[in-house]
Amino acid sequence: MKFLFLILICFSVLFQHATPREGMWLPLLLEKYNIEEMQQKGFRLTAEDIYSINHNSMKDAVVRIGGCTGVVVSDRGLVLTNYHCAYGSVQSHSSIDNDYLTDGFWALSADEELPNPGLSVTFLVRMEDVTEIVTREVNEGMSEGEMRDAIMVASGSIKKDAVAGTSYHAEVNSFYYGNEYYLFVYDTFEDVRLVGAPPSAIGKFGGDTDNWMWPRHTGDFAFYRIYANEDNRPVRFSDNNVVFQSPVHFPISTNGVEEGDFTMVYGFPGSTRQYLTSHAVRLITELINPHNIRLREIRMNIMEREMEFCDTVRIQYSSKFASVSNAWKRWQGENIGLARLDAVEKKKEIENRFSAWVHTSPRRIEVYGHIMPAFDSLYDKLQHYTLPRYYGHEALYSIEIIRFVNEFRILLEAYDPEYSEVEFERFSNIIRAGTENFFKDFSISVDKEIFSNMIREYYANIDRQFHPSFFTDIENKFDRDYDLYAEHVFSESIFTDKHDILELLDIPDDFKLEELMNDPLIQILDDIRLVYDEHVLVEYNNINDQLTSLYRPYVRGLRLMEPDSAYYPDANRTLRVSFGEVKGYSPRDAVNYKYYSTLQGVIEKSISGNPDYEIPGHLEELYHANDYGPWSADNEMRIGFIASNHTTGGNSGSPVINGDGHLIGINFDRAWEGTMSDIMFDPEKCRNISVDINYILFITDRYAGAGYLLDEMTIF
Ligand code: ARG
Ligand code: GLU
Repeated sequence: MKFLFLILICFSVLFQHATPREGMWLPLLLEKYNIEEMQQKGFRLTAEDIYSINHNSMKDAVVRIGGCTGVVVSDRGLVLTNYHCAYGSVQSHSSIDNDYLTDGFWALSADEELPNPGLSVTFLVRMEDVTEIVTREVNEGMSEGEMRDAIMVASGSIKKDAVAGTSYHAEVNSFYYGNEYYLFVYDTFEDVRLVGAPPSAIGKFGGDTDNWMWPRHTGDFAFYRIYANEDNRPVRFSDNNVVFQSPVHFPISTNGVEEGDFTMVYGFPGSTRQYLTSHAVRLITELINPHNIRLREIRMNIMEREMEFCDTVRIQYSSKFASVSNAWKRWQGENIGLARLDAVEKKKEIENRFSAWVHTSPRRIEVYGHIMPAFDSLYDKLQHYTLPRYYGHEALYSIEIIRFVNEFRILLEAYDPEYSEVEFERFSNIIRAGTENFFKDFSISVDKEIFSNMIREYYANIDRQFHPSFFTDIENKFDRDYDLYAEHVFSESIFTDKHDILELLDIPDDFKLEELMNDPLIQILDDIRLVYDEHVLVEYNNINDQLTSLYRPYVRGLRLMEPDSAYYPDANRTLRVSFGEVKGYSPRDAVNYKYYSTLQGVIEKSISGNPDYEIPGHLEELYHANDYGPWSADNEMRIGFIASNHTTGGNSGSPVINGDGHLIGINFDRAWEGTMSDIMFDPEKCRNISVDINYILFITDRYAGAGYLLDEMTIF
């Protein structure tokens, strides 16, 4: 009997161990829901070590930075994140003379660290369940609008109280479609400087060929530093600012990982949609993804051609291109993964279970009975607006000049002909700065071609009733010659010429609002706004609001129906913990992927001739000389590893932490076969990809000769 019991325990431990666990968990609730399981799987610390409001904990060294996550690695405010997260900064500091994209950038001293206006670093001070207070005034009889207002009022006063007398700011976020609410208090630092980044041939090695793929060999990391005032508090950029004294930083373990090791990822995942119904998954896989993919492909081809042709355009568009191509590729992986999982059918099974559960009691029928039929009819309605909605966003508003004119127009709306000289000065300075900023990275020939192509696609794919009225011109005056139309618009408009715009601002008396408002691009924009912003988007959002108010009881019902299931809240850019284990996987029949990659793979890829695999000569030398310093294991220079942590966009730059709470790498991607995990997780195939901390230290120290940065870190 005793023996059997032991076998059972072993079996259950084994079983637990073998099942990667999906989910992005709230640090505040680890104690209640997860810590036991985490400890069984190899975590040797406590929930308090991860998140505490009473003393320093790991959360004090995990930051939101731009759209990514970062990790504090020294007591002098040094932040490690991904190269692709810093790519925009590196790009904006680059020029043909100072080509940091190609050469990398390393500040040799504090005064060489480069400021990045607009970039900030945010710490979580604390979080709290405020569901009860937020929903206190809410009752069943309220309309969706009344409910929203009540929640807004309650959240507003919670936020106000939470930060009273501090320089913090607060957010109240909805979880499980408004079934729960949490307060988050944040501390944001605005002076963040670029400290180091490898050349893109290392930081972006593999480029778009390898993006979203394993095996991967990318040194996807960069360093920033936080600056503060004399009291160590946030302050705007100034030369007088001093280095932030960070109370907590992660110790680094260079011991590497073995298959089966516990790992956890601590970061700010952006958005997942685990609870979508079959209707939504069908819309995404059959309509939204295929069209979005095609539209982006057209834009990418245009950019790519010009980037190859001209070095200035290459630098101007490198960062833009990367962000266009990133989702383009993910959508493709997502579609393949959802099809393989038969996700629509699986969702239908859940819905059938739900309906059966509802129909077991009259009380449930009363509360939940309306949900499934309403989903059917609302998604029917939504379908009608889906393509116009996505073509508006991915075609019309993907045209850079349209977006620029849109911002411009918002400023013009504020213009007052009675402006005093000082007021006009202020007004024109804002426009001047925006204009300089826009034209720095703008190629008129790229955008003109995108304009003509996107208009054509919109015309061809979207029902006439959603055509902006300038399409009549294209039909009648231009005989649907889109290039000719683009040529005409771009040459007639003042907004395509920086000098014309700036000149306009020189003499206040020459500033003729009337004339500007008649500009062809303003006219086009207004036509788009009328159809898209004021009609399509309004209808689309309206239906979505109604859907949200269905998802609320639906998700509540699901959680009641299966109380033991892992119903974690969707990612919403709040701080989360995912945990899993280092683990290879089988991408397809007869193939098994190892859990780590090495520098040898870089050399192998580099001889293929693919420009995404070009490497700096110095890296090759280090490889051939076997000159890895203390950063290699068994004479191998490991680069990346994969594990079963559930992650998503926003988790880039997140610390990957071992069972002792030490930093072993930073997260930067997901493997291709698992990119559908935002909608449906598959423990067999879903893997997050991390750069091994050893490779980061090797590149910083041996390759870049910036070993002085290592002196600040705590390395085991
Ligand atoms: N796929 C990663 C993420 O979603 C990396 C993207 C950057 N790399 C690129 N080639 N676009 O952000
Ligand atoms: N590269 C992504 C990011 O920027 C992380 C990959 C993912 O989506 O999981 O956050």
